[in-house]
Amino acid sequence: MYVPLPSHKYVPKPYDLHGLNGISDQTLAIHLKLYEGYVAETNNLMNRIRDILMDGQVDQEESPAYAEFKRRLGFEHNGMLLHEYYFDGLMSGGSKEPSATSAFRWAAEESFGTYETWKVDFVGVGKMRGVGWAVCYLNPYTGKLSNHWISLHEVGNVAGFTPVLVADVWEHAFMLDYQPSERGDYLDAFFENIDWKVVEHRLNRSVAPTSTPPGG
Ligand SMILES: [Fe+2]
Repeated sequence: MYVPLPSHKYVPKPYDLHGLNGISDQTLAIHLKLYEGYVAETNNLMNRIRDILMDGQVDQEESPAYAEFKRRLGFEHNGMLLHEYYFDGLMSGGSKEPSATSAFRWAAEESFGTYETWKVDFVGVGKMRGVGWAVCYLNPYTGKLSNHWISLHEVGNVAGFTPVLVADVWEHAFMLDYQPSERGDYLDAFFENIDWKVVEHRLNRSVAPTSTPPGG
């Protein structure tokens, strides 16, 4: 019996982020176009994989293309989602630091002793050589935060952890506004525009999948 497979149609999220501090509207316009490209390519790859599966198998002739589509899908799909975490977490008129009573500050203090130490570590990741992402994750098993480097979108993600704060440090994110050597200035600007309410929401919605850590 022939059962048609569904097509995949992610739709780019609309963002109105003009007027950020230190990140120009021109940079944002280019960056959002790039994001839309990741959405389009994710749909394209998923649909090409769907086409291969239409006859219910992956035969020998198709398998090299199938493998290549699957490998590229990790890059494109994570490229789409990481950009959404990044853009969702920005707002015009954001505040540089979370408030004294914020759950994020509390989590940072629980995890690093002080918020300032958490920030030194996050910015340290963001200034690492190479292009990629600085991501603060919540470990849902322990409730602790940790900062990680992701390169090429799909390398370095931590399985099961929740992205809480995501900074794009590919050069396209800042090269119209800063020199490549001024990534620290771009990260200062990034912090000027954080929507801490979104960050806190990500913390709160993350529910531990089990009360016992794996292997515990
Ligand atoms: Fe980007």
